Amino acid sequence: MCGIFGYTGHRPATPLLLDGLASLEYRGYDSAGICLAPANGNDSVKIVRAAGKLAALRSRVNASGPDGSTGLGHTRWATHGAPTEANAHPHRSRSGRVVAVQNGIVENYAQLRSELAGCGFEFASETDAECIPHLIELYMSRGMDLAAAVRAAGSRLRGGNAVVAMSADEPDRLVALRLGHSGGLVIGKGEGESLVASDIAAISPHTRSVYHLGAEEVAVITAEGVTFTDLGGTEIERKITLAPRDHAAAARGSYRHFMLKEINEQPEAVISTLYGRMSLDEGTVRLDELTIPDERLRSVRRVVLIGMGTSLHAAMVGRSWIEMLAGLPAEADNSSEFRYRRPVIDSETLVISVCQSGETADTLAAMYEARERGALQITVSNTVGSHSTRIADASLMMRAGTEVGVAATKTFVCSLTALYLLAAHLARARGVGSGGADAAELARLPGLIGEVLARQEIYEDLAGRYCGYDDFLYLGRGLNYPLAMEGALKLKEISYIHAEGYPAGEMKHGPISLIDSSLPVVALMPADNLFDKMVNSINEVSARGAPVLAVTTAGASGLGGAANDVITLPPVSSSLSPMLMAIPMQLLAYHIGVRRGCDVDQPRNLAKSVTVE
Ligand code: G6P
Repeated sequence: MCGIFGYTGHRPATPLLLDGLASLEYRGYDSAGICLAPANGNDSVKIVRAAGKLAALRSRVNASGPDGSTGLGHTRWATHGAPTEANAHPHRSRSGRVVAVQNGIVENYAQLRSELAGCGFEFASETDAECIPHLIELYMSRGMDLAAAVRAAGSRLRGGNAVVAMSADEPDRLVALRLGHSGGLVIGKGEGESLVASDIAAISPHTRSVYHLGAEEVAVITAEGVTFTDLGGTEIERKITLAPRDHAAAARGSYRHFMLKEINEQPEAVISTLYGRMSLDEGTVRLDELTIPDERLRSVRRVVLIGMGTSLHAAMVGRSWIEMLAGLPAEADNSSEFRYRRPVIDSETLVISVCQSGETADTLAAMYEARERGALQITVSNTVGSHSTRIADASLMMRAGTEVGVAATKTFVCSLTALYLLAAHLARARGVGSGGADAAELARLPGLIGEVLARQEIYEDLAGRYCGYDDFLYLGRGLNYPLAMEGALKLKEISYIHAEGYPAGEMKHGPISLIDSSLPVVALMPADNLFDKMVNSINEVSARGAPVLAVTTAGASGLGGAANDVITLPPVSSSLSPMLMAIPMQLLAYHIGVRRGCDVDQPRNLAKSVTVE
């Protein structure tokens, strides 16, 4: 979703802004722009913007050649108004002396627009964001400096927002504002320079010394230092923290796409997730970083797992593991539904949020809701220091490494692995069973994933035969029902083909009316206690002419001729089969997407981190 990058210091800002925006590209966007503070205080702020990808902006910047040592850049993911140049950020005030970029939604923008129009401000775009520079200018015209005017504007805006503003009157500084939980802002402090960005990946090539801007806070950023206040202007003391090293720009290497690179990184990523968290000798799991005493975990009576998109599918699998291993009642819910339905939770409820970015607006809002009701919270995240890790009582890091592809792949398998560990940890803390985890089987997992990845040519071949269909049905049961939903989601995201994931038992209650030779069915059916039931389902669909692609594990027998194609995965314990099933789902979607000429790393309309509701 929208990306913000700002710089003030001693270096020419333009190339830094363009490179900073490039490192935020993976978030998803449809237009971009930069602005530079004038060297001469009489001039206004210079802005260059373009619809489309960064290449369009780069060629305009090269032609007009603006530069300066303080500037702001933005990649916009359209919410209000089409992705045109006029709607691209940065937006300027009436006089052109105040400029702002924003990530979020100004929920009361209609009211602010008419109020500002009444004061003589004219709007040049259809965006909600444009009211921000006008509002700041209005307050500056009443004698406030930029920081005070941003604070005053901040107290008028409703909705989650991250804003950075600059003014030709104070060309040596950027002022950042964060409201609610929409989109993070990280501020980096280097030698004689400072940077601000939507995420740490854009800052880390320059410095590891960072501050995180909190909700309802304002930061004044100059080359010399950064100061923080609340919206009332009271100073806040903020300590600098050291960002982890692995945020160094993730290079695609020899891979054609980041998505393919990240799919292939999964054995190593799962090793990182497991590292130091289990004892093979004792067969136990121990998550020492979960600083919640066992006694407190023993007081939990119920678990609610929340997430969005792929993370919701991981949460759905996690729910079953928590029931199976820890013997606790558990449910999984979509964060955006959870937050609005007045959930019944209390201090005996453990809320587990799955959020690779740590910044998904709906998940953060649901976490605040849970905190207000006194729930104990653990977040499973891939981003150190992210917003979700700061709300939760404890965090379990996925350690998947940077994921650039918009569609989650390695973070999905690592979040599954982390959730399995968490279920086993809860079981051990509560003294249920033998500690629950099958540590020996977990240790085999990276090797098994490697075996699946070693046979990628079969997916290229399958993609060639299946890429012409317009609809797909994915069926699964038990732990692999959420995997059927994830398989369908991956295909939708990457290839723009319509696909649905269903529990196979539900098939006869509706979806079967769609079945004919134009609807391929992907059946997820490992050799487990539900295998025979899955065989019945695929017999029913193949009897009605649907092409069937079955994904099973070695040792399954009785498939007969019911499937047109069969992918056989290595043998794996039934409880860990979701981690293996994920790989064919990803590779099938990837190769079909590539065959159809889609932009698999940055699919249309999608964003990596959805920082608005
Ligand atoms: C977006 C991404 C998905 C991701 C979802 C949740 O929709 O495109 O890949 O699964 O957000 O992201 P989170 O950061 O909360 O895990």
